[in-house]
Amino acid sequence: MQLNIGVIKGDGIGPEIVTEAMKVLDRVGEVYGHSCEFTQLLMGGASIDVNGIPLTDETIKAAKACEAVLMGSIGGDASTSPWYQLEPSKRPEAGLLKIRKELNLFANLRPAVLYDELKGACPLKEEITAGGFDMMIMRELTGGLYFGERSTEEIGGVMTAKDSLTYNEVEIRRIAKRGFDIAMKRRKKVTSVDKANVLDSSRLWRKVVAEVAQDYPEVTLENMLVDNCAMQLVKDPKQFDVILTENMFGDILSDEASMVTGSIGMLASASLNETKFGLYEPSGGSAPDIAGQGIANPIATILSAAMMLRFSFDLDKEADAIEHAVGRVLSDGYRTGDIMSEGKKKVGTVQMGDLICERI
Ligand code: IPM
Ligand code: MG
Repeated sequence: MQLNIGVIKGDGIGPEIVTEAMKVLDRVGEVYGHSCEFTQLLMGGASIDVNGIPLTDETIKAAKACEAVLMGSIGGDASTSPWYQLEPSKRPEAGLLKIRKELNLFANLRPAVLYDELKGACPLKEEITAGGFDMMIMRELTGGLYFGERSTEEIGGVMTAKDSLTYNEVEIRRIAKRGFDIAMKRRKKVTSVDKANVLDSSRLWRKVVAEVAQDYPEVTLENMLVDNCAMQLVKDPKQFDVILTENMFGDILSDEASMVTGSIGMLASASLNETKFGLYEPSGGSAPDIAGQGIANPIATILSAAMMLRFSFDLDKEADAIEHAVGRVLSDGYRTGDIMSEGKKKVGTVQMGDLICERI
């Protein structure tokens, strides 16, 4: 099978970690008889440097022509990078928001898993993490505060800024369905997170989610307020299977969930639309402070490539092969600096990629 994959290497550690994921994909191709056709796409700071803007229309077109896109990370250090002297609509992040909207990537899946081998890195007490945890944050990605009307103006001599939060029932229903579909393949529990004690948009969210739940009698639905959810994530993370939530809450809670695993360098993510197309990227950021040093952990990007094989190409066996190889590298004792602990063998980005390839 020919896999037509767009690649956004991005900024910071992006190019290093994506190169390793491409190497792993090529290795999978070699073993299982596929060929990967990679199309390089520029986005974020890398695009600003060349084109003056973080995402061009040609790049959007080229991305749409691919079957899936693998991405590193975008953005730089806001206090030192010249990209942040530009107006907000021209900064690296604007490119990311634009590609999400243009490709209609409304469903963002962010798994947060406590790896047995990496339990030591988890900041929570052992009595809380005993038995591990494995949750999927399902974040709505093309609506809400991120894409509402905003303005900054002087009203009656007072500077006033406004951001509006809008959701319609169609947007809520389609992400809710995705959440329940995923739950059916997991432990069949959905925790829908909102702020229904204050917000109208959350009250509509809750109503529509309850309607969708009727079509999934096997799935248990629980509603939780977002502030409580922030607490529960550190108090008892095992209670969660699928967390279904809107854009801004999902942004915040997914960072919290990844942090409690203690190993953000291991967490993949996928952003999907109604077709098989997806954008796959590590959950972590561009880490400009360690860029170019060859020490970044490529595993999250490599696992994102596995998600891509699974969701966009239906290549489950190949995705399993990558995930197993990552598991074996860990059990063989290899670690990048971010997940290093005593008695383990410390390796760099390229070596980690090689070790995973050897096990496929
Ligand atoms: C994320 C990031 C982005 C977001 C930023 C970079 C715009 O934090 O993917 O979670 O807020 O969605
Ligand atoms: Mg975020």
